[in-house]
Formats: sequence, structure tokens, C-alpha cells
Amino acid sequence: MQLLDGKKLSAEIKNEISEEVKKMVLSGKRAPHLAAILVGNDGASQTYVSSKVKSCEEVGYKSTLIRLEKDITEHELLAQINTLNNDDSVDGFIVQLPLPKHIDEEKIILAIAPEKDVDGFHPMNVGRMTLNLPSYISATPKGILEMLNRYHIETEGKHCVVIGRSNIVGLPMSLLMQRRSKPGNCTVTICHSKTNDLAKYTLEADIIIAALGKPQFLTADMVKPGAVVIDVGITRVEDAGRKSGYRLFGDVDFDNVSKKCSYISPVPGGVGLMTVASLLQNTLSAAKEEFYSKNMSFDVGDL
Ligand code: GUN
Repeated sequence: MQLLDGKKLSAEIKNEISEEVKKMVLSGKRAPHLAAILVGNDGASQTYVSSKVKSCEEVGYKSTLIRLEKDITEHELLAQINTLNNDDSVDGFIVQLPLPKHIDEEKIILAIAPEKDVDGFHPMNVGRMTLNLPSYISATPKGILEMLNRYHIETEGKHCVVIGRSNIVGLPMSLLMQRRSKPGNCTVTICHSKTNDLAKYTLEADIIIAALGKPQFLTADMVKPGAVVIDVGITRVEDAGRKSGYRLFGDVDFDNVSKKCSYISPVPGGVGLMTVASLLQNTLSAAKEEFYSKNMSFDVGDL
């Protein structure tokens, strides 16, 4: 079994990005600028956003963290998004999810200018990704593709089972694994909470991508010997014995599955770090206007 080392790969990607940033700055351009909006005080969201901001510093990006109270109105949040959409000094921005219940996430995502949507959540980016057109690909699926690519894992003709159908991971991941590219060209099965006899599918899989958010869900008896296992889950489980007060669990029973598979991504130290690296890559693409030209923003009403 070989470990899919997100720590090593993300360090490699960050090095590549910092080299590009140095060149950009030497040629007289400004460094890329990522802004992040964090609403409320959710512990996990705060950790993720801090890690994104810290990573920006590591590669030489400018970053701006906008913290908003949990009782902010939807209208105020939309106004903040409008400001970032129209701020030429910001290349891309994210709104950390989940948002408080009184805010309509769909409306918020729709308000982000597609050319600054480095999370790749806007329907314009999801649609373009689906049609295989240049677009931001949401960071977790993009990070998984990068992981498969950098470990030279053959995907063509393989059976890939994706567990979970979320807009952020399961849905885009399943589309990306079947598309005509490398990595890609898989036969894909999407399993979810309503799938009968889920193990029937996972036992047939050459590649399993577990993204359902249930700690240690995928057990060794559900995995074919030699399969590639990618663990997207990251759940905090209370643990009074730890300084942080919690322990992180993936969706895979790592100790037992790792004895059976060919490759496996650990939690922590796997996909999570790749997600941050991919966000940095998307921000670089935004700064270089790789997919869209700047100031193409349109009013949400135009959709
Ligand atoms: N919440 C969980 N994952 C993500 C992510 O990739 N981006 C944002 N904005 N929120 C998230």
C-alpha cells in the first residue's frame, strides 16, 4: 500500500506557485490577491479559512479575510459580495460554507462574479466544467485529480465509485472522472444515502472516492483488494483526551482498509491539503485571466 501524501504534494504545488508569483512580481505585475468571507464562529470553518489565508502568505499572495457576524443579514452579505466583485485589486474570493440558516446559500453563490469564483461553485463554472469548457473547478475535486495525476494512477477504463452526491464534491467528482481526459475516462457509479446494498458497488470498484461525511463508513469488507481509496471525509469527533478537544476522522476505516488497497489518502494529511493547494491554483488562474477576462461581471438579473 502506498500513501497518497497530500502534505508532500501540496508543498510541491505551493513551491511551483511561489516561483510563478516571484516571476510575476519581477515582471512588474502585482501578486495575486484572494479574499475570503467568513460568517460566524464555526470552529471548523475558522480553521479552514485560517489555513487558506496562511497558505496565501506562504506563496506570496495578498489575502484579505473579511469576518462577518453570524446574524448579518443576507442583504448585507450580498452588498459585501458586490464590493468584492467590483474591486479590481481582488482577483478571486470565496464565501466559506456552510452559511447560517437564515441566509440562502444558492442566492449568495449566484451573486459571486463567475470570473472571481475561485471555488468554482457558481452555476456558470459548474456548467462550463460539465461541458468540459475552461472554468474554475471546485477545489476538492481538482485536488483529487491532481493527486491521481501526480501519483501516475491509471484511471482510463477503470470503474470509479463515488460515494456522495454533494454539489461541492460528489457531483463534480463523478463528472470529472468520466470525462475524456487524463485523469478521467472512468466508468463512474455514484452511490448515496439511498443506494441499496452499497457494498455491492464498492466491491467492484477500482477507485473509490468516499465523500459522504460519515466517520469510518468504508470498511475493509467493502473494498476490493488492490483498489485505490480516496478519503474526502473530515469529521471532528469529541475527544476530551486531546488538547484540541476533538479528533479528526475520515470516511474510511484507515487502519483496516490500508491493509487491503494499493493507494490510500490519509485524514488528516490527504485531500484537505490538496483542496487548499487547488484554491491557490485557481487564484493564480484568476490573476492571469486564464478562463475569463476581468470585469465581465453581469447582474444576477441577467441570468
Ligand atoms: N466548505 C467546505 N468546503 C468548502 C470549500 O471548498 N469552499 C468553501 N467556500 N466552503 C467550503
